[in-house]
Amino acid sequence: MATAAAAHVPVMRDRVLELLAPALDAPGSVLVDATLGRAGHASALLAAHPGLSLIGIDTDATAIEESREVLTGFAGRVTLVRAVYDEIPQILAANGLQAVQGVLFDLGVSSPQLDQPSRGFAYSQDAPLDMRMNQAGQLTAADVLNTYPADRLARVLREFGEERFARRIADAVVAERARAPLASTARLAEIVRDAIPAPARRTGGNPAKRTFQALRIEVNGELEALHRALPAALDAVAVGGRIVALAYHSLEDRAVKRELAARCTDTTPPGLPVSLDASRPQFRLLTRGAERPTAQELAANPRAAPARLRAAERIRAAA
Ligand SMILES: C[S@@+](CC[C@H](N)C(=O)[O-])C[C@H]1O[C@@H](n2cnc3c(N)ncnc32)[C@H](O)[C@@H]1O
Repeated sequence: MATAAAAHVPVMRDRVLELLAPALDAPGSVLVDATLGRAGHASALLAAHPGLSLIGIDTDATAIEESREVLTGFAGRVTLVRAVYDEIPQILAANGLQAVQGVLFDLGVSSPQLDQPSRGFAYSQDAPLDMRMNQAGQLTAADVLNTYPADRLARVLREFGEERFARRIADAVVAERARAPLASTARLAEIVRDAIPAPARRTGGNPAKRTFQALRIEVNGELEALHRALPAALDAVAVGGRIVALAYHSLEDRAVKRELAARCTDTTPPGLPVSLDASRPQFRLLTRGAERPTAQELAANPRAAPARLRAAERIRAAA
């Protein structure tokens, strides 16, 4: 998430650079930035490694266009693709690549997306209920709110927003849409506020935050895409190559943590005297637990607050 709007310093930039550096120094190295955004991390990595080429992926056509401008100085080393990141294997094949030296995921929504009111991601600004990262996507937040049965809507809010009052909010949405379809982010924020018991409204920031997160995840199929993309990305990392992932909520972070743990664990059945070759870990963790931004970074960019960084290095080819 969240480059600081004014300074465009990407989240945990120095740590991301440090963790990826050993894998990217050899001439001919390739990095997949699966969430290009406005190319903040990508441009810093290209500047740091003159022999590095980048495959930059984003589902948002505007992100690709803006990144093309940001990266003009690196022409010849940059391939940009508008796609969902679960297409990494096809994108690598189309570029004649079997493996890459680095993969970066900086998940979620970008500052340019949040700051553009018409995209409908922000509960703080009134806008149409859109929330599509891919502007050509079929499903909008308005579709979800105006068509999902109450049970399904409540499940989305509970699972993807970890919202305790999911059922009350879903019922309030269904009552409202019986009068007129929901159309604006400001009205949705009001409905959520009114549906939540008064004592709960006084803690934990804006009460609409969890509902907006849940709708965004549903509209963009974010977790399904991530669950498909992580194993594919790990498969694509060459021996000695590294993967870094920045997550911004516990569902994303759990997915990253589980996938890395599975690859970093010896799966030899207990009781065998030696590890089976096929069961030895393919990766080693480079981070202990999830790393967080420093207080200094948070002072400069409060949007970095939820970031949790995990990283791993491939130490063995797949058996
Ligand atoms: C937090 S921003 C990345 C910011 C970037 N690291 C930078 O330094 O500018 C996340 C980006 O990932 C994109 N994105 C989110 N989900 C995606 C998906 N499933 N496939 C491809 N791109 C996705 C968003 O459109 C957004 O531009």
